[in-house]
Amino acid sequence: MPVKNRFAELLPEITAWRRDFHENPELLYDVHRTAGKVAELLREFGCDEVTEGIGQTGVVGVIRGKTDTKGRVVGLRADMDALPIIEQTGLEYASKTPGKMHACGHDGHTAMLLGAAKYLAETRNFDGTAIVIFQPAEEGGAGGEAMIKDGLAERWGINEFYGMHNMPGIPTGQFAIKPGAMMAAADQFEITVTGKGGHAAKPHECIDTTLTAAQIIVAVQSVVSRNIDPLKNAVVSVCVVQTDSTAHNVIPQVVTLKGTARSLAPEVRDQLQEGITRVATNIAAAMGASAEVDYQRGYPVTMNNDEATGWAADVAREIAGEVNLDMQPMMGGEDFSYMLNERPGAYIFVGNGDTAMVHHPAYNFNDDAIPAGSSWYAGMIEARMPAA
Ligand code: NI
Repeated sequence: MPVKNRFAELLPEITAWRRDFHENPELLYDVHRTAGKVAELLREFGCDEVTEGIGQTGVVGVIRGKTDTKGRVVGLRADMDALPIIEQTGLEYASKTPGKMHACGHDGHTAMLLGAAKYLAETRNFDGTAIVIFQPAEEGGAGGEAMIKDGLAERWGINEFYGMHNMPGIPTGQFAIKPGAMMAAADQFEITVTGKGGHAAKPHECIDTTLTAAQIIVAVQSVVSRNIDPLKNAVVSVCVVQTDSTAHNVIPQVVTLKGTARSLAPEVRDQLQEGITRVATNIAAAMGASAEVDYQRGYPVTMNNDEATGWAADVAREIAGEVNLDMQPMMGGEDFSYMLNERPGAYIFVGNGDTAMVHHPAYNFNDDAIPAGSSWYAGMIEARMPAA
């Protein structure tokens, strides 16, 4: 099976939705226009139930198959939010709101799942219940977690979750997936170094916070290189250095460091938290300063279930002819992880072709990926709940 023929027919309509979302990006939970349009379209398609306001602004649609002999319920998820980026694509349908941009392709994910919902509501050629899930706040707001906390899995009796993200660099409409850890746990830390500020010409009367902070930046790199098993994966990046001074001749009283710590296994995550805290506080103590470490755990590891990965790959292979099952995990975070922590399921990449990377101001979702993406969403329902 290549792409489902119906999606070739629906392509202009799905593309129009996508470009409308692209032109009207919304951030985090403030996706009222997008969610409103999603709910309106789902009702127009004849979904059996449409519920708004799950996880603040998430939308859930129910599509019942022709039969329901086994009581199986499969959830498909897309994300709806954009990013605080100034768009530089020059597209005719570029963002109308400066400083907000669909730079991660969530406009495409939403449109592709809407296309699948339209097809599933028309055909209903499956035995069970399909749940289409549109979540807010994937980009740092944990909207997926908010929907789970609102009872998503129990309320609709969902047995399995499937999610998809586009990925530049993978040929358009091709798929990549792997069992196990697919995306990283994404944590953030803030280290506040306090010393004794003063005149830069009298360092002996001060406790130098910038020198201490510099030593900490270097030393925390040893957590990954010296504490973590070299065969396991971790990243520590210090990304912000802030002082309370703007003068070239003042030793600041306080220096703040901010960064991110990423990992693919729970024990590595624990080691990162312990290691960064230990190194920062003890380096500071050695310098006569003090350091306070605020380590905040973010999205957990996106963990693909082995069996579900096989089912997702089978559907992708039918559409694209082949599927890359040997992809490397990525150290980005993804809050579909909260859904995969509740129920088995899988997360797959669909190729966006040779475009700018996601989160870049020149990025654009590739509409040529729509037939493959919509076919995969719909195909998961027909494959997991074959018509009786
Ligand atoms: Ni994204």
